[in-house]
Amino acid sequence: MTEKKIFYITTAITYANSRPHIGHAYEEIATDVLARWKRITGFDVQFATGSDEHSPNIEAKAEEFKTTPAAYCDDMTDIFKETWQALEISYDRFIRTSEPLHYAAAQEMVRRAQENGDVYPGKYEGWYCDSCNRYYQETELKDGNCPDHGTKPRRLSEDNYFFKLSRYAEPLLQHIETNPDFIRPETRRNEIINIIKGGLQDISISRASTTWGIPFPGDDKHIIYVWFDALINYISAIGFPQDMANFEKYWPADVHVIGKDITRFHCIIWPAMLMSAKLPVPKQVFGHGFIYLKGEKISKTRGNVLDPLDMVRDYGVDPFRYVLLAANNFSGDGDFSEEEMVERYNSDLANDMGNLLNRTLTMVEKYCDGRIPESRQDKNVNDSILAEMAQNLYPAFNKVMDQLCFSNALSLVWDLVKRANKYIEEAAPWTLFKQGEKDRVDKVMYNLLEVLRLVACYIQPFMPGTTPRILEQLGDPNPRRIPEFPHEAQWGQLPKGQPIAKTGPLFPRREKEKK
Ligand code: ME8
Ligand code: MG
Repeated sequence: MTEKKIFYITTAITYANSRPHIGHAYEEIATDVLARWKRITGFDVQFATGSDEHSPNIEAKAEEFKTTPAAYCDDMTDIFKETWQALEISYDRFIRTSEPLHYAAAQEMVRRAQENGDVYPGKYEGWYCDSCNRYYQETELKDGNCPDHGTKPRRLSEDNYFFKLSRYAEPLLQHIETNPDFIRPETRRNEIINIIKGGLQDISISRASTTWGIPFPGDDKHIIYVWFDALINYISAIGFPQDMANFEKYWPADVHVIGKDITRFHCIIWPAMLMSAKLPVPKQVFGHGFIYLKGEKISKTRGNVLDPLDMVRDYGVDPFRYVLLAANNFSGDGDFSEEEMVERYNSDLANDMGNLLNRTLTMVEKYCDGRIPESRQDKNVNDSILAEMAQNLYPAFNKVMDQLCFSNALSLVWDLVKRANKYIEEAAPWTLFKQGEKDRVDKVMYNLLEVLRLVACYIQPFMPGTTPRILEQLGDPNPRRIPEFPHEAQWGQLPKGQPIAKTGPLFPRREKEKK
């Protein structure tokens, strides 16, 4: 047996202080799509996600609800898991920073930094934002408030342990310059290069003002700073330092999928921590854009939130996954609204795809006795345009998936769907049938059925529940099989004579919402 290639992919771990919103769902779904695509293209995939539990905000929440931070995090973690399950997130590992093995990993990383001479005691004074979990300098604040959250930071003055981040500016720059794919997309890469060129200051990596956290090695009065702790989840999730065989199997990660607000932590602090610990750095950090709701920042305090579970209940999990990724460019910022959800559902799913399936199956019943017809050779220019488009899809699709351009990947599939709908009009099988051109009718129907098989397989990572529903209607004897690429991309696999099994419409049209 040949060894499978490894693919280790992660999301950021969500702060356990509040329920996941659509921005979190977006990151989980996108990461899931790539994980699924890698699995069906033959990789041994490890997909890790989890919860980030040692934030002062969580302590505050626990106090508000008159419970302990640990109990609060247990409840919140259950909610995360339920939500990800409803969204069909196929993670392999859910890592909690409260797990004992994560404690061991975080403490080992501090010890390694200490051994490397990168940790020293010092005094810090500055403005601390509890939502960002970081210090800001006076000059970074906007009218005295956090530039990201707009809330008033706390003035803190503490005796902390510091990490010699400044020491890593040069090696980091060098790494970024020699590895153009290390930070993606390009805009984030440039931002990070500018930050490093502007000079890096050492960062404080402990807190003495709280006990909610992981004890700092060598000084029990301190806990490890939440970001230093949280980043380590990427290696504790795969067994560092207890199961080094598993760790070495998956590390370095192929891609950390994170949002644009936390690139500094992932592209500067995290690789510096790894360099200090003498561990390889991840191959890529991808900083996706933010989802806004009708142009507004998602904000609980402003009541501007959409619960992903409500979207699933109202539109179904596959349409929600599809619309979120089709309607937004993953690299840049995107916008979402229920109006857009309904519009895209109707135009792309009910019309483009649903109609292609319905019309094709109806005609196969009428003209081909409800069976996959034989595809006889004849030369027709529209046939070859369609077949060629379908054949050429694989390399193009795979390439944009590797670039995390999910909306482009879906466009490629929808181009084929639209071309197939046009092909129906051009070929006019109803006329051919009337004229007694049975061979032509068979050929046209075969081509349409093949396009549907391909579409069903390509959308599997995006809409895993829809694939079997289409394959079933094409009469596939094993509709729940997981497609395998590139095998599945080969044109002409539907067996002649297989009876189709038309059922109701895949995506019944939705009326525009009441509001
Ligand atoms: O930052 N659109 O957790 P988090 C898209 N615990 N993505 C968004 C978003 C939006 N509107 N809002 C948030 C944290 N995100 C830390 C991570 S990793 C070692 C520690 C993204 O719960 C955000 O950018 O605030 C991040 O990648 C993820 O959701 C979790 O955010
Ligand atoms: Mg949008």
